[in-house]
Amino acid sequence: MRRLLLLPAPLLLLALAFAQDPSPFAPSRMRTPDGKLSDPDHFFEAKDCGECHKGQYEQWKGSLHNRAHDDGIYRAFAELARKDAGEETYRFCSSCHTPLAIATGKEDYLAHEGVTCDVCHSIRTVDVVHAGGGANASFLLEGGEVRFGPLEDPSPTPAHKSLFSETHRGAMLCSACHTLLHPKNGLPIENTYEEWAKGPYAKAGIQCQDCHMRSAAQAAEVARTMKPLKVPGRTLGDMMDRPDVHDHRFSGASTDSKHTGGAHAAESEARLKAAVEMSVAAAPGAGRTLDVTVSLTNVGAGHAIPTSITELRQVWIDVRVTDAKGKEVFRSGAVDGDGRVDPEAVMYHSVLLDEKGEVTYLPWRAEKMAMERLLPPKETVREKWEVRVPAGAEGPLAVEALLRYRAAPQEVMDGLFGKGRFDLRIVDMATARTEAALPR
Ligand code: HEC
Ligand code: HEC
Ligand code: HEC
Ligand code: HEC
Ligand code: HEC
Repeated sequence: MRRLLLLPAPLLLLALAFAQDPSPFAPSRMRTPDGKLSDPDHFFEAKDCGECHKGQYEQWKGSLHNRAHDDGIYRAFAELARKDAGEETYRFCSSCHTPLAIATGKEDYLAHEGVTCDVCHSIRTVDVVHAGGGANASFLLEGGEVRFGPLEDPSPTPAHKSLFSETHRGAMLCSACHTLLHPKNGLPIENTYEEWAKGPYAKAGIQCQDCHMRSAAQAAEVARTMKPLKVPGRTLGDMMDRPDVHDHRFSGASTDSKHTGGAHAAESEARLKAAVEMSVAAAPGAGRTLDVTVSLTNVGAGHAIPTSITELRQVWIDVRVTDAKGKEVFRSGAVDGDGRVDPEAVMYHSVLLDEKGEVTYLPWRAEKMAMERLLPPKETVREKWEVRVPAGAEGPLAVEALLRYRAAPQEVMDGLFGKGRFDLRIVDMATARTEAALPR
C-alpha cells in the first residue's frame, strides 16, 4: 500500500481502476449476479436434464456444442494457446468452449460437456458489446433454481423453476459466443452475429434458431421463403406436446466424423450443399482465349460464407477446362497430393497477420486482418478467368466448376497432428458445367 501511495495522482487512479477489476472471469465478459465464482451445485449434467427432456438431450449429445471442449481441432489449438500465450488466454478460450469450468473456477467441472444445457439455460441476459449484440461470452450466468427458456406458460416441475426469456428466442443469445473480439486489440476474429445483423435475414426477423434449431431441410425452406417455421413436438420424453419445439443438434458445417461424431455430419453436409447456387458461363475472348465466369449466390446461410474462424475455414472455386478429347486445357483450384490448395485459387476466407506482419493461423497472435473475402448473405459475386487455349486443342470445350469447403488448411492439420493423422474432408458445396466452342 505504501508503494501505491507514492505514485503520482493520475497513475494512482489508474492503478485503482485495475485493482477494482476483480472479475475472476476476465478477460472474458462473463458475469455472475454477485461477481463471484458460481457454486458447482447450481449446475447439472446434461444427462440429468435428459431424464425428462429426452429429445433435447439426445439431439444435443454428440453435437459440436457438446464437443466444444473435447473436439480434436479445438484441443490442439487450445493447448497451443496455453503454451504460447499462457493460462489467461487458455481461460479465455474456455469461457466459450466450456463456460461452466470458468464460472465455477474448477477447470474440470463438467468441462467435457462443453456448451451444456445449463450453460444456455442459466443465461439470464446478454450484454451488448459489438454490433448491437454480445461478444466474448458477455452473458450473465445465473446458476440456481431457475432455468430460462422460450415457454411463456411452462408447466410446473419439482426439478426447477422455469422463466420465460425473450433472449432465448433470438440471435442475441448466440451472439455472446459467436462474436469473438481479440481481448487486447479488439480485432473481430469471429463475426457471425454482425454478418447476420446487417444482412437481409435480421431485417426479415429470421433468427439463428430459425435455421440452426431446425433440420437442414427445414432451414433451407426458411432461407427460400424468408419465413420462420414452427415444428410441433415434445418438451418432455413422453408428454407435453407443444406447437413448437427446437432441434438441439445445432448442426452447421462440420462433417468430419473425427470432429462431431457421425450422426451430425450428414445434417451439416446437407446445409453446406444447400447454401450456394452456382453457375458457369464461357464465351470466346480476344485472340485464342476463353472468358470463363463463375457466379455464386449465398442463398442459404444467414451470414457470410464462410463464417466464424474464417482464417482457418477454406471455401474455394475449382475450375477445369477440358477439350473434346478430355485433355486438360486449364485448371485453377486443384488440390495437390499433400492436400494443399492451388495458391492461385479464388478462395473465400481471411488472412490474419501477427505483430511482425507475418501470416498467422493463431488467433491470439493476430494484430491485423490482411484480407477478407467472403460471400455475404443473399448476395451474388462473379469471378472471371481468361483462359488461353493452346493450339491443338479440339472443340467443343467443357468447363466445370466446383465450390469446395474444408474446415482448415490440411498443412495446418499436418503441423498440429503429424502428416496423415487428421485428414480433413473436402465437401463439394455446388457444381456447375457448360460447353463452349473453340475460340478462333
Ligand atoms: C467468444 C467465444 C469464443 C472464445 C473466447 C473462443 N472461441 Fe473458439 N470458437 C468459438 C465458436 C462460436 C466457434 C465455432 C465456430 C464454427 O464452428 O464455425 C469456435 C471454434 C473454434 C475452433 C474451430 C474448431 C473446429 O472444430 O473447427 C478453434 C480451433 C477454436 N475455436 C480455438 C479457440 C482458441 C484456441 C481460443 C482461445 C485463444 C478460442 N477458440 C476462444 C467461440 C469462441
Ligand atoms: C447453445 C444453447 C443451448 C443449449 C446448449 C441447450 N439449449 Fe435448450 N434451448 C435453447 C434455445 C435458444 C431454445 C429456444 C429456441 C427458440 O425458442 O427459438 C431452447 C429451448 C429448450 C426447451 C424448450 C422446448 C423447445 O425445444 O423449444 C427445452 C426444454 C430445452 N431447451 C432443454 C434443453 C436441454 C435439456 C439441453 C441439454 C441437453 C439444452 N436445452 C441445451 C438453447 C440451448
Ligand atoms: C423432473 C423432470 C425435469 C427435469 C429433471 C428437468 N426438467 Fe426442465 N422442465 C420440466 C418440465 C415439466 C418443464 C415444462 C415443460 C412444458 O411446460 O412444456 C420444463 C421446462 C424446461 C425449460 C423451459 C423453460 C421455459 O420457461 O421456457 C427449460 C429451458 C428446461 N426445462 C431446462 C432444463 C434443464 C437445463 C434441466 C437440467 C438441469 C432440466 N430442465 C431438468 C421438467 C424437468
Ligand atoms: C456459451 C457459448 C455459446 C453459445 C451461447 C452458443 N454457442 Fe454455438 N458454438 C459455441 C462453440 C464454442 C462452438 C464450437 C465448438 C467447436 O468447434 O469446438 C459452437 C458451434 C456452433 C455451431 C457449429 C456446428 C457445426 O456443426 O459446425 C453452430 C451452428 C452453432 N454453434 C449455433 C449456435 C446458435 C444458433 C446459438 C444460439 C441459439 C449458439 N450457437 C449459442 C459456443 C456457443
Ligand atoms: C437462413 C439460415 C441461417 C441463419 C439465419 C443462420 N445460419 Fe448459420 N449456417 C447456415 C448454413 C446454410 C450454414 C452452412 C454453410 C456455412 O458454413 O455458411 C451455416 C453455418 C454456420 C456455422 C458453421 C460455420 C463453419 O464453417 O464452421 C455457424 C457457427 C453458424 N452457422 C452460426 C450461426 C449463428 C450464430 C447465426 C445467427 C447470428 C446463424 N448461424 C444464422 C444457415 C443459417
